[in-house]
Amino acid sequence: MLSVVILAAGFGTRMKSNTPKVLHKICGKSMIEYVIEASFGVSSDIHIVLFNQKERVMEHIKNVYSQEDSIESKSQNMRENALQDNRQNDKQDSIKNANRDSKDSNNIANKNSSNKDSKKLQNSQDSNYKNSGQDSKKILDSITFHTQLHEKYPGTGGALMQDSKKLLNLKGDKILILSADTPLICAHDLQSLCDNDADINIATFITQNPSGYGRIVRENFLDTKIIESRILESSTQHITAIIEEKDCSEEEKKINEVNGGIYCFKKHILESYIPRLQNNNKQGEFYLTDVITLALKDSKNTNLDSKLHSKNPNFLTIKTHILDESTLQGVNTKANLAKAQDIMLENLRQKAMESGVIMDIPSSIYLDSSVEFKGECKLENGVRIIGKSLIESSEIRAHTLIESSVIESSVIKENSSVKQSKIAKSDVGPNAHIRPGCVICDTHIGNFVECKNAQLNGVKAGHLSYLGDCEIGTGSNVGAGCITCNYDGVRKHRTIIGRNVFIGSDTQLIAPVNVGDNVLIAAGSTITHDIESGALAISRTQQKNIPHGYFRFFEKPSH
Ligand code: UD1
Ligand code: MG
Repeated sequence: MLSVVILAAGFGTRMKSNTPKVLHKICGKSMIEYVIEASFGVSSDIHIVLFNQKERVMEHIKNVYSQEDSIESKSQNMRENALQDNRQNDKQDSIKNANRDSKDSNNIANKNSSNKDSKKLQNSQDSNYKNSGQDSKKILDSITFHTQLHEKYPGTGGALMQDSKKLLNLKGDKILILSADTPLICAHDLQSLCDNDADINIATFITQNPSGYGRIVRENFLDTKIIESRILESSTQHITAIIEEKDCSEEEKKINEVNGGIYCFKKHILESYIPRLQNNNKQGEFYLTDVITLALKDSKNTNLDSKLHSKNPNFLTIKTHILDESTLQGVNTKANLAKAQDIMLENLRQKAMESGVIMDIPSSIYLDSSVEFKGECKLENGVRIIGKSLIESSEIRAHTLIESSVIESSVIKENSSVKQSKIAKSDVGPNAHIRPGCVICDTHIGNFVECKNAQLNGVKAGHLSYLGDCEIGTGSNVGAGCITCNYDGVRKHRTIIGRNVFIGSDTQLIAPVNVGDNVLIAAGSTITHDIESGALAISRTQQKNIPHGYFRFFEKPSH
């Protein structure tokens, strides 16, 4: 059985941040989440060692995995909500049609039921962001938290020590150890690290810039005694020690093979050597890397003849796995964080393009790791898509932001922003602002239109409007400069507008207000009362033209 230990107890001082290092995000997800998820790919016995801001890290992990929901089910829920909304509208239509001639009292009844429906829609929409998924629960169930005895035993080796330097209580006979600050590792690499019978497996990488990493010191290839008897490795030369940069000689600093901080040990190796670690180094810490040096020393000191047989317990096998720098990038500083994110972004964009997404200037596009694509999509330069978003058969034009939204068969034009909303079969923008809670179907939203908590179905709102806390039915047209005045300074109120309503430009609808079907509202009106179906509403002071009135204020021009 394989147990995994994730080291996350360090102070991360080089990050110069009040946020614990392992909670810093890469493409929208904390570093420790990536490491947990890669670990879960190889084991369901995950141990996380914490110390610095322990409660905060623990709370974060618990929150993430008790609230996670798959984008699939979120999108499905949103679709169902939109359908339910349409069905509800149809039902209300037949009631409204039957009562076409009745007056305000019926309209008020409609308004109340509409209000209830939109509340229900809103509630179920909110719950889309909070449902807990099956996998998340399994991940959470597989995690055991430990607290490092940091004052007594600092360092990566100290993180594995209980009282009296005894190894943490772990079930597995193999122990995979990961650093929570190495977020780019994937389950596949971890599997190959663990899928062999070596006593110690170490992930290393070759880099042009080894600064900050422990250097892998290898023995001369010609030392045949070691090659043939005790140490079997994938590399041509054999590891003798891992030396931390602060403890390196000038010569050792030049070594460009470095320790990736990920190891798979047989448990008996850790049981023997963790209690023997010393902190007599520049940092005064118990280094996990010294387990390797100690085990090798023992192996060398034992009489060679007595351990030529592989069943001899002193026969030590170490395997180094030289992986890509891009998977073992450690994050100690904010510059490292940016570099790790660049690598992650490159991978995400590549994956999206492989799945059929067209990208203009891919390097200018930012994606969170929770973004999904379906069908053929196009992203123009400068697009930023974050949160749990699903983009399906849609085009997102230059410099647009999409946050935690579902966009289906739509075009979102340049410089727009869409947050926590669902847009289907619609075109939006340029320069549109779709704020949380909108469900927009079969609709045209033009430039400089702001929507918030708006359900728009088959609507045209071409220019310069604010549509907040409202429902607008099929075939309705919102003229330029229309505003739903939803806030009375204390509370927010809803505006409910029926089908085939023509709202003239520069109309203000003072909520709460209810507009029936087939209504014409004259441009420049201020609507304060409900309007019954079929009516024309106009609220303007009558225009008065004063002959020669101009010249009361200005002189007559000479020509
Ligand atoms: C460590 C390795 C180094 C390797 C590098 C790879 C040691 C001594 N050094 O160095 O050889 O090249 O990772 O990225 O192992 N941690 C604890 N408790 C502690 C100290 C650290 O849990 O007392 C955790 C940290 O939270 C972090 C991980 O261990 O997630 C690594 O610690 P860090 O201080 O970043 O070690 P490096 O200097 O990067
Ligand atoms: Mg580190």
